[in-house]
Amino acid sequence: MKGVLICGGTGSRLRPLTDVTNKSLLPVYDKPLLLFPLQVLLDAGIKEIAIITGTEHVDQIAQFLGSGSRFDCEFTFKVQEKAGGIAQALGLAEEFSDGDSICALLGDNIFFDDLTQAITSFENGGHVFLKEVADPKRFGVVEIDGNKVTSIEEKPENPKSNLAQTGCYLFDHRCFDVIKNMKPSGRGELEITDVARWYMEQNELTCTKLTEEWIDAGTFESLFRAAQLVRERRES
Ligand code: G1P
Repeated sequence: MKGVLICGGTGSRLRPLTDVTNKSLLPVYDKPLLLFPLQVLLDAGIKEIAIITGTEHVDQIAQFLGSGSRFDCEFTFKVQEKAGGIAQALGLAEEFSDGDSICALLGDNIFFDDLTQAITSFENGGHVFLKEVADPKRFGVVEIDGNKVTSIEEKPENPKSNLAQTGCYLFDHRCFDVIKNMKPSGRGELEITDVARWYMEQNELTCTKLTEEWIDAGTFESLFRAAQLVRERRES
């Protein structure tokens, strides 16, 4: 399995913090944000990792991460020239993935559960990680039956459940063909939710429900909360 860390987006909700740098380099207590999702990949023993980012901040991200030797892994940098969605970003990793399955993580997601077992036991199909949230409209929202996903919608007006799809996705190599045949959504993006839906339609989308906290650190409040949680855990 190969890793893909997607550090895209303009970070518009975090301006002016993101005026001159990428959201994923912002501090979360004592570390830049992207080190948290990166650690999920490293903990799962993934050694080959593609970092996908926009043109604006690829230099800063590459300068910070380096070749990967510091983390005992190897980075491949890919540039998404125009923001066209998470699925489009993932599509850039096709050649890199070389027929393997992938674990894709969003560079602004912090997980407090240990995902290692689910990642290392993945064989094929698709797998998503879900968290009960108070404000599902902000996320991809799913319904489930046991460990199978039965419906999935991106940022629905009337969410059918309070289960959000988090920013960690396990897909087999077919995801790249799915992405090639996708059309942009209403907001002009290739949605990762549409990739997951394809697996659901094949009855191959399974899930893990998270029990610990999960943070999408895209707002001041969530970034602040992330720092508090990380600090608390350092102390305990
Ligand atoms: C993206 C996905 C959404 C998911 C979220 C998790 O949303 O499109 O389905 O719930 O990440 O962080 P975005 O952060 O791009 O709005």
